[in-house]
Amino acid sequence: MSFLKKPFLVILLFMTKSIFVYAKSETLVSPAGNVKVIFSLENARAGFDVSFNGKSVVRSISLGFVLEGNDSLTKFSMNSCSYFEKRNTWKTVWGQSSEIVENYSELKISLNDLTQNRTLILSLRAYNDGFAFRYEIPAQENVHIIHVISEESRFALVGKYSCWWSWADYGTLEKQYYHTSLDSAKHVAVPFTLRRNDDVYVSIHEAAIDDYSSMTLKQEEGDANSYKVNLVPWAFSVQVKAVDSLRTPWRAFIFAKKPGDLIESNLILNLNEPCKLEDVSWIKPMNYIGIWWEMHLGISTWTPGDRHGATTENAKRYIDFAAANGIKGVLIEGWNTGWEEWGKKDAFDFVTPTADFDLKDVVEYARSKGVEIIGHHETGGDTESYEKHLEAAFSLYSKLGIHVVKTGYAGSVTPEGELHHGQCMVRHYNKVMRLAAKYHIMLDVHEPIVLSGLSRTYPNLMTAEGVRGMEWNAWSEGNMPSHTATIPFTRGIAGPIDYTPGIFDIDLSAHKGDRMKWNSLDKGNTSVHSTLSNQLALMVVLYSPLQMAADLPENYEKHPAFEFIKNLPTTWDETHVREAAIGEYVTIARRSSDAWYVAGITNEHAREAEIDLSFLPKGVGFTARLCKDAPDADYQGNPEAYVIEEKNVISTDILRVTLAPGGGFFLILHPVKK
Ligand code: NOJ
Ligand code: CA
Repeated sequence: MSFLKKPFLVILLFMTKSIFVYAKSETLVSPAGNVKVIFSLENARAGFDVSFNGKSVVRSISLGFVLEGNDSLTKFSMNSCSYFEKRNTWKTVWGQSSEIVENYSELKISLNDLTQNRTLILSLRAYNDGFAFRYEIPAQENVHIIHVISEESRFALVGKYSCWWSWADYGTLEKQYYHTSLDSAKHVAVPFTLRRNDDVYVSIHEAAIDDYSSMTLKQEEGDANSYKVNLVPWAFSVQVKAVDSLRTPWRAFIFAKKPGDLIESNLILNLNEPCKLEDVSWIKPMNYIGIWWEMHLGISTWTPGDRHGATTENAKRYIDFAAANGIKGVLIEGWNTGWEEWGKKDAFDFVTPTADFDLKDVVEYARSKGVEIIGHHETGGDTESYEKHLEAAFSLYSKLGIHVVKTGYAGSVTPEGELHHGQCMVRHYNKVMRLAAKYHIMLDVHEPIVLSGLSRTYPNLMTAEGVRGMEWNAWSEGNMPSHTATIPFTRGIAGPIDYTPGIFDIDLSAHKGDRMKWNSLDKGNTSVHSTLSNQLALMVVLYSPLQMAADLPENYEKHPAFEFIKNLPTTWDETHVREAAIGEYVTIARRSSDAWYVAGITNEHAREAEIDLSFLPKGVGFTARLCKDAPDADYQGNPEAYVIEEKNVISTDILRVTLAPGGGFFLILHPVKK
């Protein structure tokens, strides 16, 4: 199917009006009138004040740039401005819903820089669920080399807030989250999520990062409510480099009345451009298993030898298990040569299988069983080497019929000295994304740059890690249940998370004698900090169009609960957050065709979830199959105890489910067949 040739776009209203006036104050209002932006130009300083439901939430303090050579682009007069309105509904290739409403009002202001008469365009957008702005330095006579020393976007949050944040880190996004007042959140990664004491929720992020460096937010000295956009610099150099023209990502503020609305918001996707791929028929979301957790547990190795995980025989074992159990994909890590050299320059070979792994045979075998192989490119951060081999590597996979590749960047990046989130790496990741599209390859990026909604434009960018994921439970003190109850509202705002949930051998005892320590963070007491039902629930709570069931086949085989993972959809027609408190609990209902999947998790505290089934169509009977924590379950002492129940329900029912400390539940509702 050609996505562009059969568009589902419905443009309800497309109205542009330009009013070329020289005014000092302009007002922009979202389609429903609930988000209002007042732009002003006073004493040559541009600024805005944004209100949500009648109350001011964000006020800009400064706008513009400082460029190399002590060149400030911060004092302006106004050339002109134009208003634009868009009413649109677009169809997703995959996602949390099959259609997304994209309604907004936009104000484009052409500013004239008072020092050198250069034009800077400031675009402001008001959506019903938030606000965003971006800058553009268009091509013009007196602009050539643009070297950004500082993006001067500073803003103040109005009111009193608590916030969920992780430390900004130019090397990794795999961090713990903290819930504190603003005072402690001195330098934070985005998405940065906040709650005002009158229950306004805000999440600050960026959208459409292309040829620019990633942003973090730095608190202004002496004012805990004020932050400045801080860009990850080039090695020993400026923050952003451009020639002739420059366009920043959108700086986005999602506003919500309740935490669940943050998860349901499509603001970040809507700020990206429509799909640029003509044919998307090859893009297929899927659940998958893989030769993966066994290496993290230290049962097998990525490197060849007695314990090598990626052997032909082991791969076929996973393929057989997938084929028999409604799992569509099998990831194979450690299939290629070079792992012994991990950490060295040019370590990995991206085309040569190890002697004990027959790539062609494995792919053929998978095809005969209707299973997709998910290829793997670990780069160790050596992007220079990866770029050299990229065409050959993608073309090999594509010739073999491998359409999904997991990439990884575990190590310090090259070119030497560059930071993981600077413009150099942004260019690399986006180049890989575009080239993968050319070869009809879907991507699952580990150690990524932060997601910014580019999947709308390139839907082959399926999912990414960029979170302290499941692997940490195999070889470190691990992740607490409050971590997974926080990330849907923080990291999840950026896009799909390849957290790799679904571990059933919670205390990691099944392979105890067989494990070898390989990671220095492993203190010999690792386990997964949740109940089994919580692991099951994460498969639905944490959205990813490529969703891994991460445990080993033998650990699933012994559990009836595994039936909930078989044939699990990974793209949804509708998503509704039913209950949520950030860092405490969340219950999400997702629809696929006429079936509903409802899952809930809690943090370290037990709770009773109330599942109001009013989202079901009226007058239709549903069979509800529920997997929940057993009455004596507890993530600390008895994590694997669960019960499965079945009953018939209708839309007026309210189900009450008790979740153990660190617990969860998973409910599947199918209409009763007549
Ligand atoms: C880190 C990734 O997050 C993990 O999934 C992968 O198995 C290892 N690197 C090895 O590539
Ligand atoms: Ca990782």
